Amino acid sequence: VLRLGMREVYRVVLEIVTCAALNAHDGFGLRRVNLWRHSLATAVAAQILARHLTAEDTEIVFTAALLHDIGKALLAKAAGAEYFRLLDYCEERNGISQCLEQEMFRTDHAEAAGRLLRRWKIPERIVTAVAGHHHPLKLPQGKALPSALIYAGNVLAYRLGHGNGLPRYVVEPDAAIVGLIRLEPHELYRYEDEVEEMLRREQDRFR
Ligand SMILES: [Fe+2]
Ligand SMILES: [Fe+2]
Repeated sequence: VLRLGMREVYRVVLEIVTCAALNAHDGFGLRRVNLWRHSLATAVAAQILARHLTAEDTEIVFTAALLHDIGKALLAKAAGAEYFRLLDYCEERNGISQCLEQEMFRTDHAEAAGRLLRRWKIPERIVTAVAGHHHPLKLPQGKALPSALIYAGNVLAYRLGHGNGLPRYVVEPDAAIVGLIRLEPHELYRYEDEVEEMLRREQDRFR
């Protein structure tokens, strides 16, 4: 198994997220920053939850969460302005993007990311976590935890203002999924301060 150092992963992510092709489209400057902030917030949150509530390798969880929405950058690269319209449409209606992505691309950003990361020979545990981040309950038992952590991390990221709109699963997280990390949905808020605090420190490192 290829072991990627954190630094290498950050570099790759930054390269993708700041890819010149994406810059060509109007409005992507802002989106790029949003996606990066959202990814970092999700990663920090997932890592904190992992440390408090599970025995998962926190570095794997952090890396997987950092990469979880990288498929959005891929789809943006493929479809440009049309994909941004899709995201705007979802944001205005507080919807989730994957249904519309399925219509437009016959795939969604989680699946697309899974395929890319597998091609890059990213460790399978990370690939599975990213590909399954919308549906942790569909994963085999024993493989669902990192995805559930990303799911919960996503909820916290959105709630702290690092997301687009307020999708339904953020307002009402799925109790069965959050239950995988032995929390009730309403208990997630307990971690908000710690996430914000650590996020501030992480952001300083990338400035
Ligand atoms: Fe997602
Ligand atoms: Fe996300």
